[in-house]
Amino acid sequence: MKADPAPQPSILILASGSGSNLQALIDASRERDFPGKIVAVGCNRPQAFALERAAQANIETFVVDHTKYQSREEFDGALMAEILRHNPDLIVLAGFMRILTTDFVRAFRGKLLNVHPSLLPKYTGLNTHQRALDAGEAVHGTSIHFVTEELDGGPVIAQAEVQVLPKDTAESLEERVQAREHVLYPIVIRWFCEGRIQLGSDFAMFDGELLKSPMRLPDN
Ligand code: GRF
Repeated sequence: MKADPAPQPSILILASGSGSNLQALIDASRERDFPGKIVAVGCNRPQAFALERAAQANIETFVVDHTKYQSREEFDGALMAEILRHNPDLIVLAGFMRILTTDFVRAFRGKLLNVHPSLLPKYTGLNTHQRALDAGEAVHGTSIHFVTEELDGGPVIAQAEVQVLPKDTAESLEERVQAREHVLYPIVIRWFCEGRIQLGSDFAMFDGELLKSPMRLPDN
């Protein structure tokens, strides 16, 4: 008799908007050898297109509408309760536009990944594309990092570079950065599900070694 295959790590994705990164992950998860399973998608905005993408893919969805809560703590408490219902092995922030409380981040330490549209530690926060243009950067990009208490400050696992072109606007740059995110995020999530990356005390670990600088995907 054949032994049952080991259960795949379960992935819960949080999004706020269009969900193009979510779509890239749904597409990747359909590949036969993908090592994880997307169990739910949560949004803080009831109108987020990400919800439609998830429904199209028959993935369970939930909404925790931040406008219905008096404080960040109450919102995060409600979000945490929804997440715990699914008890995921990995929580993927894919364009989730909420600052999370320390209690939330600590509760899921080592299981929370985020995509940030800059080559961290450059340009934490918002408007990253315009700020990179204003600074005259020749190279911009995106980062996938573990989430810690420090906003956009957790250990970076991998980055993808994007060359800045003379004619670029914030919009054209964003478009190329997002195209790279759609390649990079599924790769990193595969690694996580295969047990290849972990959060150490100050750094990410890759195959049991400290990752002193992030892996870099050059522009193509
Ligand atoms: C991405 O560019 C991501 O870097 C940022 O928000 C954007 C989300 O886009 N955090 P989408 O909702 O995945 O299309």
